[in-house]
Amino acid sequence: MKKIKVIGSYITKFGELWDRSLESLFEEAVFGSLNSVDGEKFTNRKVTHQYGTTMSEAKFKLSDIDAVFVANMAAGQFANQLHLNALVSQMLPNNPVSFRVEAACASGSMAIEMAELGLLSGRYRTVLVVGAEKMTDAMVSDSTKILAGASEYQKEYGSTFPALYALLAQAHMQEYGTTTNQLAKIASKNHIHALNNPKAQFRKEIPIDVINNSMVVASPLRLFDCSPISDGAASVILTTKNIKKYSNKPTIEGFGHGQDSLSLVDRKSLTELSATKIAANQAYRQAKVKPKDISFAEVHDCFTIAELLACEDLGFFRKGEAGKAIDNNMTTYGGKLVVNPSGGLKACGHPVGATGVKQIAFLSEYLEKNSKIKGKTFALAHNVGGSGATAIVHILSKTNK
Ligand code: COA
Repeated sequence: MKKIKVIGSYITKFGELWDRSLESLFEEAVFGSLNSVDGEKFTNRKVTHQYGTTMSEAKFKLSDIDAVFVANMAAGQFANQLHLNALVSQMLPNNPVSFRVEAACASGSMAIEMAELGLLSGRYRTVLVVGAEKMTDAMVSDSTKILAGASEYQKEYGSTFPALYALLAQAHMQEYGTTTNQLAKIASKNHIHALNNPKAQFRKEIPIDVINNSMVVASPLRLFDCSPISDGAASVILTTKNIKKYSNKPTIEGFGHGQDSLSLVDRKSLTELSATKIAANQAYRQAKVKPKDISFAEVHDCFTIAELLACEDLGFFRKGEAGKAIDNNMTTYGGKLVVNPSGGLKACGHPVGATGVKQIAFLSEYLEKNSKIKGKTFALAHNVGGSGATAIVHILSKTNK
């Protein structure tokens, strides 16, 4: 595969950002990643913009952006704003060609995939991908209903996402003896990881017994098994240009995309997400790596059971063995690999359209700080739409000579 480099990235604070508009989140992320690009080729340029937030100067030559890919799930319902490709394109003086991508909670990684296809086709050489969602202005009952639009309306009418994932949890518990305590350990670990992430929505340790005694949302899932309702945005700049100059920047080594039935009713198994397996196999093959080569993974833990399923479906542990591995601290610092060093969706937050972009932005930044002193370090991003109808996996690397 032609080399694609991640040369810029930015993540806004995630959380209940009541003083922020959707537009200002997009804008902060767009100019944040432009400003994060370094290199002698770039000149400082004054940027004027219409929303009046934090931006003053961008180091990157704005005309270098050939295309913009915008990820969002439901701004039409959450913020009465559509035509998002135009909304973002107009923030840049050259009004680059711009696309909006929607695939529920996998919108972000699908926008990155579309951007990669544009780069690999040769049509574009440098692109900006930005994802944002502004969810907390709606009542929780309304956001739950909007999110339920990512399931199959006719067959699953009335099922909320906590309820759908609760069914997956019950099936896994019945088949493999997975326990609620193991699920609680996932939540607790991700809240601990988020202590190191200043952008995270929740930065507090939550003891296992507090998790186990929190309110039941959809049995067996409790409040702290769920990712929250969040606002936030993230962006990355990808290029196939001047690759030598960016040799020290993270590389996209491979990506894969799997699909499955939208409704759980039509699945062969409720104890795995086969779309994840398809996406992972494609990505591993393209990157020429195996699960054991991955040092860090951002996986889609919209609910704790989703992280457990991901750890198995991505091949980190054999089917039915992730619960035990989690009990043995194999997915945190000092374990086999670190799963969700950002805190994951659980503690960092889950502004749905931003999440897939945030995973790549976070891992790029994390690899820059935490890669092996010498050689190649690999990281994996796993983003799911709905209850597993869409899954997209990316593998990144950082080489130190
Ligand atoms: N994790 C950790 N803490 C959470 C939390 C979460 N998921 N959700 C809320 N909290 C905290 C709040 O900060 C608040 O703390 P405070 O009292 O100290 O301020 C407290 O718990 C109660 O919050 P509240 O806003 O009243 O919760 P809620 O009942 O309105 O919403 C959920 C809780 C779980 C129902 C909601 O977060 C939810 O629907 N999550 C799932 C989102 C989803 O389905 N996403 C798509 C996935 S596919």
